[in-house]
Amino acid sequence: MSLQALFDDLPIPIIQAPMAGATFDALAIAVSRAGALGSLAAAGAAPDEIGPAVDSIRTATDRPFAVNLLVAPRAAPDAAELDAALARLAPWYAELGLEPPAHPNRFSHDFDAQLAALVAAAPPIASFAFDTIPPDAVDALHRAGSYVIGTANTVAEARAWAELGADGICAQGMEAGGHRGNFLAEIDDSLIGTMALVATIRAAVNLPVIAAGGIMDGRGVAAALALGASAVQMGTAFLLADEAITNAPWRQAIVQAGDDPTRLTRAFSGRYARGLENRFMREMRAIEDELPAYPVQNRLTQPLRAAAEKSGETGLMSLWAGQAVTLAEAAPAGDLVRRWWAEAQAAARALSARTGA
Ligand SMILES: Cc1cc2nc3c(=O)[nH]c(=O)nc-3n(C[C@H](O)[C@H](O)[C@H](O)COP(=O)(O)O)c2cc1C
Repeated sequence: MSLQALFDDLPIPIIQAPMAGATFDALAIAVSRAGALGSLAAAGAAPDEIGPAVDSIRTATDRPFAVNLLVAPRAAPDAAELDAALARLAPWYAELGLEPPAHPNRFSHDFDAQLAALVAAAPPIASFAFDTIPPDAVDALHRAGSYVIGTANTVAEARAWAELGADGICAQGMEAGGHRGNFLAEIDDSLIGTMALVATIRAAVNLPVIAAGGIMDGRGVAAALALGASAVQMGTAFLLADEAITNAPWRQAIVQAGDDPTRLTRAFSGRYARGLENRFMREMRAIEDELPAYPVQNRLTQPLRAAAEKSGETGLMSLWAGQAVTLAEAAPAGDLVRRWWAEAQAAARALSARTGA
């Protein structure tokens, strides 16, 4: 079996994007049960939570699924850096009646321990973003029976994953919601549209390519497959799904998003990510470059974002969403994927008629 064969066997070649903070096992189960491929976003999970979450998916469905980790560097900022970062956030905490948090002991879960838990859980597919993983980790996942998918924002990143022995590349175009996965070049050189990125990675790397970014319905699915993608990965399109854990103010902001609503920011997490533009993004823009890198800034804004969510203050929340967010619809995830696939088939038929094929 190869990853391509696994995709060929999928009744619906749609991958539900792993979305830390918006999805966990329920959405992955619903999507895989419907014949597409669900993903467990495990970045925010403690190492000992990963195995049980994978078990819950296995118990609920015998269909394939993916588990995703974000390759976070081990951060060790000094006290002065933390004081400066917290001082920049103090007025925002004060607005919510809070003191800034004390210096945290850790800034993210230990990636090596998460990876070990992932290898032990041996999901059908292990996917990664933010960086590559060491070659021996790729080997360990293969020995465990997991295919490895690496996220690339550029052709060079796709080549890096291919050289490591990855089985497939997730080509994340600049339209995508959530964090950028760039790890070789700076952000300005890592913003390639999905259409150009899928085609150029296909031409450069002899691996299945998954198209991600801006795909919201069956027309987008058909377009990406026509471009040579083996599957599509959709994130924002699932944010309003019944089984997503997108919180209520975030859902409401999506429903109310106007024209041209998203922007990239590093103000919330220290890594560029696309979300609905809001006050925090706008007012932090001038000092964005001074903020500590992910995961430090991410950890320091966590209590702020949690408190903002509680009080429904969307101006201070990270409302991650992709460029085509206004097309998101609320429905059970199974209904969404079945509808998108029917639309993709209709789009392909219409195209055949147009081209006389
Ligand atoms: C709310 C949100 C959270 C995300 N979290 C992750 C994540 O944990 N891991 C990951 O690899 N990608 C993550 N992504 C990016 C998606 O994998 C994918 O690239 C993106 O959703 C595709 O673009 P679209 O949102 O326009 O469909 C996230 C995206 C969103 C919108």
